[in-house]
Amino acid sequence: METMLTAAAQEVMDRLYADDKRQRAAGLPSSERTRNIDYQSGRYLNLHLRMTRPRLSLEIGSSNGLSTIWLAAAAATFQGYIVGTEILTERAAQANDNLAAAKLADWATVRAGAAAESLADLTPESVNFVFIDAEKEDYSRHLECVLPLLAAGATIIADNVISHDCTAYQAYVRSLPGAESITLPLERGLELTCFPAAPVLR
Ligand SMILES: C[S@@+](CC[C@H](N)C(=O)[O-])C[C@H]1O[C@@H](n2cnc3c(N)ncnc32)[C@H](O)[C@@H]1O
Repeated sequence: METMLTAAAQEVMDRLYADDKRQRAAGLPSSERTRNIDYQSGRYLNLHLRMTRPRLSLEIGSSNGLSTIWLAAAAATFQGYIVGTEILTERAAQANDNLAAAKLADWATVRAGAAAESLADLTPESVNFVFIDAEKEDYSRHLECVLPLLAAGATIIADNVISHDCTAYQAYVRSLPGAESITLPLERGLELTCFPAAPVLR
């Protein structure tokens, strides 16, 4: 078995991957593309969640919800929940429509607006996993913003750390006391960081 996706989730994903491929083939500028995660990286996210079983996960940069579907499909297997964020209101609406079409709306929602504002109401130390996939130059700022929200033992995955220059983010995350980080050379590159099981630094 390659994945544990339901037929409904697989159908939505197939459609979104085909749309993303068409946008790239047409040479649309990145501002007009959905810029979805590569397939094997999505599978890795899904496996990571099923292995670590985070109760509450965040996603920074949800676009039209393809990676959110990978995360929500995992969360559905252990009663977890995903809060996604997307700065473009129309994309956030598409993400929620796609989650509903995939029959995963009980396990995830995407909030419209900039991540820092969208996540301001969350309880400190309540978040067990974060996926960072917004603009690469903002990764360190997003990390700084979520640090107070992290529960002990939280993990973070950031995409595109090989396809783009994310060295400032990688240096920052590696400088945090007790945090351990490794670059996984899968597709565009994933930075996987594990925070200590004791209370997280500020
Ligand atoms: C690479 S795409 C995300 C792709 C998505 N994770 C997926 O794989 O399907 C990056 C997205 O981040 C959004 N974004 C940029 N800055 C943001 C911010 N400060 N807060 C929330 N979303 C942001 C962009 O509008 C864009 O849709």
